[in-house]
Amino acid sequence: KCKQAFRRRLLAWYAKHERDLPWRKSQDPYRVWISEVMLQQTQVETVKPYFLRFLKAFPTVKNLAAAEESQVLRLWEGLGYYRRARGLHAAAKKIVAEHGGQFPRDVATLQTLPGIGRYTAGAIASIAFNQRAPILEANTIRLLARLLAYPDDPTKSVGQRLLWAMAEEILPRRDVARFNQALMELGSLVCTPTQPKCDACPVARNCAAFQEGLQNEIPRASVK
Ligand code: ADE
Repeated sequence: KCKQAFRRRLLAWYAKHERDLPWRKSQDPYRVWISEVMLQQTQVETVKPYFLRFLKAFPTVKNLAAAEESQVLRLWEGLGYYRRARGLHAAAKKIVAEHGGQFPRDVATLQTLPGIGRYTAGAIASIAFNQRAPILEANTIRLLARLLAYPDDPTKSVGQRLLWAMAEEILPRRDVARFNQALMELGSLVCTPTQPKCDACPVARNCAAFQEGLQNEIPRASVK
């Protein structure tokens, strides 16, 4: 019951506050994948023009697989963490060579691709294919840690195990794509690293940190 109300409040908030971002225009797994990899270490505003240029140069996974690595890296210039670009290129080749150019739809198979870890696999499976797959990244680590008033560093292995389990437990049966994006959007816009906007938060009543006045103390260390 409590989970139901939480989901309803979150989705109602997202319906009003969802940002119009270029990778949200379709559920194409290729676009979801490129955007999520770019967003891993880079801010939304910085990613936007890179994403649009990348998609213009390589509109499909087949185009990316056929490209020269030097061209892929050139389009990545300025984003940093070039391992990500090499991973994208290698994974595109593997998708074409071993999966007939079609994205795998399940988390386990997605995770066999270069550069695709648990988070990216969950994002593709849930956002593109609406599979019931959990996600956990910087925004949602902070959000879930506050909801639980988790007292330790949530990026350590004990915290990660707990938060992955929670990310799975709160998933709705349907509409997982919107739900997971709503969690990230709330983390990004409201449940911010400093001075979270708890007065504007649709789930403040579900939040142990807010109830205890600890929203500025949690999460502890490194994710701040
Ligand atoms: N950060 C990582 N993935 C994101 C997404 N899909 N929307 C907004 N922020 C994000």
